[in-house]
Amino acid sequence: MASLVQGHKKIERNVTLLGALALVVVAIGGIVEIAPLFWIQSTVTKVDGVRPYTPLELAGRNIYIREGCYNCHSQMVRPFRDETERYGHYSLAAESMYDHPFQWGSSRTGPDLARVGNRYSDEWHVQHLKDPRAVVPESIMPPYAFLAERALKPGDMAAHLNALRITGVPYTEADIAKAQEDLATQAGQGGDPAELATRYPKAQSRDFDGKPGEVTEMDAIVAYLQMLGTQVDFRAAAAREQAK
Ligand code: HEC
Repeated sequence: MASLVQGHKKIERNVTLLGALALVVVAIGGIVEIAPLFWIQSTVTKVDGVRPYTPLELAGRNIYIREGCYNCHSQMVRPFRDETERYGHYSLAAESMYDHPFQWGSSRTGPDLARVGNRYSDEWHVQHLKDPRAVVPESIMPPYAFLAERALKPGDMAAHLNALRITGVPYTEADIAKAQEDLATQAGQGGDPAELATRYPKAQSRDFDGKPGEVTEMDAIVAYLQMLGTQVDFRAAAAREQAK
């Protein structure tokens, strides 16, 4: 014990030694915290069907974030029976692997939206977003009617996709080159939806807001809501499990 105190005395009285040893200790702490982040890709198991967002879905997601929908809605079904019976299969890590930033959320003033895709019609969503109480009389959700009036101005989609690619989202050269075109195609403005779906499987292309001539913010947000939770085919996965 006495020698330990003596040793420490030596360190404390020698500024250079103290500095060098402090650096070693901090470096160990830093490595332990930072190093695993470089291998995080391999800690998220890849799941069939999970793909990056299409430009239109991404534009809708940006509106979702802009409007603060996450203040009332989570996007993570937890692995508890009451949740899976209400919302469907619990969320997998892979389902939000291309989310920057993720939208798990921590508050549920409204229901979880992780699996809301294809649950309602486009008309229902448009009506509900314009005036929630028109379809759910007891709703306390605010109205977002202006989304249907505002032309979608998504900015430079190619640059957006490219930025996401830098963070690790696997957009291809073709995806980036055709970003602007893809957005119009998916919103039902001509183009080739079948070709879009070869690069973005299960992408739904149509006029989402009931106004075929225009691409509004409503088109984008409904396109986004309609794809949430639909990428992974849990029934097929369960059948494969059974067959094993
Ligand atoms: C102040 C809280 C609040 C905000 C902000 C909010 N919502 Fe809601 N939302 C609710 C509540 C409460 C419900 C349940 C009643 C209803 O269906 O209107 C709901 C329901 C929903 C539903 C139906 C879910 C289901 O499974 O039935 C969707 C879709 C939805 N909201 C989307 C959005 C979007 C998109 C935004 C942002 C533009 C948003 N909400 C903002 C509170 C909110």
